[in-house]
Amino acid sequence: MRNRRADPLPLGFAGGSGGGAPEGASFSGITLQDASVTLSGKPVLHAMSLSLTQRRIGIVGRNGSGKTTLLRLLAGLIAPSSGTVRLGNLDPARDRRAMLAAVGILFQNPDHQILFPTVDEELSFGLVQMGLTRAEAAQAVADLLASEARSHWATAPVSTLSHGQRHYLCLLAVLLMEPATILLDEPLASLDLPTQLRLARRLQALPQQVITISHDPAAVAGSDRVIWLEAGRVVADGAAAAVLAAFGDAMADRGAADADTDIPG
Ligand SMILES: Nc1ncnc2c1ncn2[C@@H]1O[C@H](COP(=O)(O)OP(=O)(O)O)[C@@H](O)[C@H]1O
Ligand SMILES: [Mg+2]
Repeated sequence: MRNRRADPLPLGFAGGSGGGAPEGASFSGITLQDASVTLSGKPVLHAMSLSLTQRRIGIVGRNGSGKTTLLRLLAGLIAPSSGTVRLGNLDPARDRRAMLAAVGILFQNPDHQILFPTVDEELSFGLVQMGLTRAEAAQAVADLLASEARSHWATAPVSTLSHGQRHYLCLLAVLLMEPATILLDEPLASLDLPTQLRLARRLQALPQQVITISHDPAAVAGSDRVIWLEAGRVVADGAAAAVLAAFGDAMADRGAADADTDIPG
C-alpha cells in the first residue's frame, strides 16, 4: 500500500527540500535536519528533514503516527535524540525565553496546559512572563475577552468551564501572546459547532504562521501545504488537495479492512 512507502510520495515539496514558501512570509520558519525522537527507548520520529516556511501547514496521520511528538519537537518541549531543530538561529529546546514570543502551542488536552484557578489569571500569566506589567496584562485580557463577547468569563473559576470552553481558553491564551508561529494540536475536536466555526474564521484571519495537526482532512484542507505522517515518517508532503486525497484513500482502505489491528510503531 502507498502509505507503507518509506519515501514521501512525489506530490510537490519532498521532505527536506523546503521549497515553495509563499512570498511575503514574515516568520522565519522552523527547520528540521535529520531530527529523530526516541521516547522511553522507542523510536517515535525517524530522521525527519523539513523546512516549514509556509503560512498555513497541516499535519495529518492516524493515531500514534507521531503528530503530537512532532509538534512538541517544533515547540522545543522535547529535544531531538539526534539531528537538529532550528527556528532562525534559535534552538527551540534550549532558547526557552526567546521561544515564548516565537512559538505558541495549543495542546490537544486543555487540562495539560491550564495552570491557574481563574480565567483572567490564566490569560495574564504568559503576558507577565513576556514582560508586561500586571496592569498592562489585565487590560489586554479584558480587551480580548470583550472582543470575544466573553467578558463574563474573567473571574470565573476555570473549573466551571466545559472541556471545550477550557480548550478555547487555552487558545485565547496563545493568541494573546501573539507568537510568530502557532502550533495547534487538534484544535477543533472538542468544540461545539458554533465555536468551531468562529474559531476557524479567527484562525484563518491570523497573520501568523499556523501549523495545525488534525486527523480530519477538512480541518486542514485550506492549508498551503499538508504533511502526512505514518509511523514516525513523512509519507507525503505537498499541496493540500493531492496529499489529502491520497490520505483519504488510504484511510478508506484501512476502514474497509480492520482499522485497529495494525498499531503503528
Ligand atoms: N513518552 C512516551 N514514551 C514512549 N512512547 C511514546 C511517548 N509519547 C508517545 N509515544 C509513542 O509515540 C507514538 C506517537 O505518539 P504521538 O506523537 O502522540 O502520536 P499522534 O499524536 O499522531 O497520535 C505512539 O506510538 C506513542 O505511543
Ligand atoms: Mg496526538
